[in-house]
Amino acid sequence: MKISFQRSTGAFALAALLASAPIGVSVVFAQEDIGIVVYNAQHESLGVAWAEAFTKETGIKVTLRKGSDMEFANQIVQEGAASPADVFLTENSPAMSLVDGAGLFEPVAADTLAQVPENFRPSNGHWIGVAARSTVFAYDKTKLTEDKLPKSLLDLADPSWKGRWAASPAGADFQAIVSALLSLKGEEATASWLKSMKENFTAYKGNSTAMKAVNAGEVEGAVIYNYYYYGDQAKTGENSKNIALHFFKNEDPGAFVSISGGGVLASSQHKENAQKFLAWLTGKGGQSILRDGTSFEYAIGNGEASNAALPPLSDLQYPKVDPATLNSAKVTDLMTAAGLL
Ligand SMILES: [Fe+2]
Repeated sequence: MKISFQRSTGAFALAALLASAPIGVSVVFAQEDIGIVVYNAQHESLGVAWAEAFTKETGIKVTLRKGSDMEFANQIVQEGAASPADVFLTENSPAMSLVDGAGLFEPVAADTLAQVPENFRPSNGHWIGVAARSTVFAYDKTKLTEDKLPKSLLDLADPSWKGRWAASPAGADFQAIVSALLSLKGEEATASWLKSMKENFTAYKGNSTAMKAVNAGEVEGAVIYNYYYYGDQAKTGENSKNIALHFFKNEDPGAFVSISGGGVLASSQHKENAQKFLAWLTGKGGQSILRDGTSFEYAIGNGEASNAALPPLSDLQYPKVDPATLNSAKVTDLMTAAGLL
């Protein structure tokens, strides 16, 4: 005789049932297809491509929820132990640090950590890098020649750059760049740079919009991530035809490579499958989607190649930053004080 019941059956009812069950009766749980719930702040198309390929390969269902880095980070903190999320995926590291700071991540399995080089994951192993993106200065090549480009992100604070550059300060992407600046140069230098930025730059809502503004000749350059340009080039190139990318060098804060994170929530009821998802994302399966797809984000798994359209990650002269140190609250405070938010 078999008795099946749903997982939602309370522990008390289960105990009562077991106590009353005659000897020789086996009690089995009904096989429900629960899947894992992923709070996906990564680009929707990338999240969908990852989820579908993972399900196809493993049979484990994935339910994606859509939101932004900070929206989800704050939501997870509010939900605490009651969060329905099993996995959190971000575009940038500061949102991961926020959730980690609240003690809500389950440590990443050691085998998974071993798939990603140390510089692409936080030192504490509470979450892991799943992809990366490079900061760039997307400039109007009809107006600027290479010798006229800023050598450092810090140069954009110079009065000579007044009215000539753009950014999208409200977004998680730009705030991650500021968090790197803070980590590398300290609070005083960051506050002073942000103050000059306020004087010099033009704000756009969204990085695509900032790039379009450069392309349209409204400003000479914009501080954005690499994939906006490559994504446009792979389509019609219409919004980037006048643009070239400048990758800052010499481990400048402007050469910051931002790590997209993945983590398993400590409150997850499906930790095994959630860990499997992280293992898959950072392994051949997830990383090959970065190589072959149209996200134009960098693959970071050991020995995994990125999309051939991108300059190799190993050629970029990015600064060494422990993503665990990237602080979103301080960045928001400093940007608010500078009148940028
Ligand atoms: Fe972005």
